[in-house]
Amino acid sequence: MIIAQLSDIHADGSRGPLDRLDRVLGWLRPMRPDAIIVSGDLAEFEHAQSYQQIDERLTGMGVPFYVVPGNVDDHHALHQVFGAKMGWSGSRPLNCVGQVGDRLRLIGLDVTVAGAHHGDAAPVLDWLATELQRPGPPALIFQHQHPFFCGIDGKDRNNCRSHEALSLVIGKADSAVLGLSCGHVHRPLFTRFAGMPATMAPSVARANRLRLDGKESEISDPPGLLIHHMQDGRLVSHVVMLG
Ligand SMILES: [Fe+2]
Repeated sequence: MIIAQLSDIHADGSRGPLDRLDRVLGWLRPMRPDAIIVSGDLAEFEHAQSYQQIDERLTGMGVPFYVVPGNVDDHHALHQVFGAKMGWSGSRPLNCVGQVGDRLRLIGLDVTVAGAHHGDAAPVLDWLATELQRPGPPALIFQHQHPFFCGIDGKDRNNCRSHEALSLVIGKADSAVLGLSCGHVHRPLFTRFAGMPATMAPSVARANRLRLDGKESEISDPPGLLIHHMQDGRLVSHVVMLG
């Protein structure tokens, strides 16, 4: 089973971000994923038009897809375009749930805070706990802001707050969760959170520099994505960079 994770498309009404998205989807098409998840920051300007353009492209892939908002998204415009498909009935948070066959659940958490770059999991903790109590296959949780410390200089100021409480909810659910993946920092990375594997997807948009302990080197990362591959109950996450 293949779950493709795209993140941080940052569409803005210009051609560049859509060209990068087309490149990513062009690579992905022969892989015939079972589902696609998009972990936020779909558009930063021209939101309504950008969401339409992204929806057309994702719909054209012919597989179920799930999106959650990021800090530069417009919740109203996102709801207008994706609300019916995501099952968003009313106002925020714009969480979503999907099941892929009988082996995997996908739980998308809206941890965004209006007008802020950081996130906060507190408003969705009860909802998540209820979802994780439902009978069903184990879940891959995805959200925009990272609930762990990534260590990249300046990038942890805008992480997902209430991560201790989120960790408790996930830890309590134990085998109901396979892992958590996010976006937001525009760099692929791997760590652990709540005793589970935790990943961050590379961005479709331009990557951020890897600046650690005040040190950095030149980079020019191309667009990329994560491929989460599930086999015999095990999840392996692959980084794909389209250089
Ligand atoms: Fe972001």
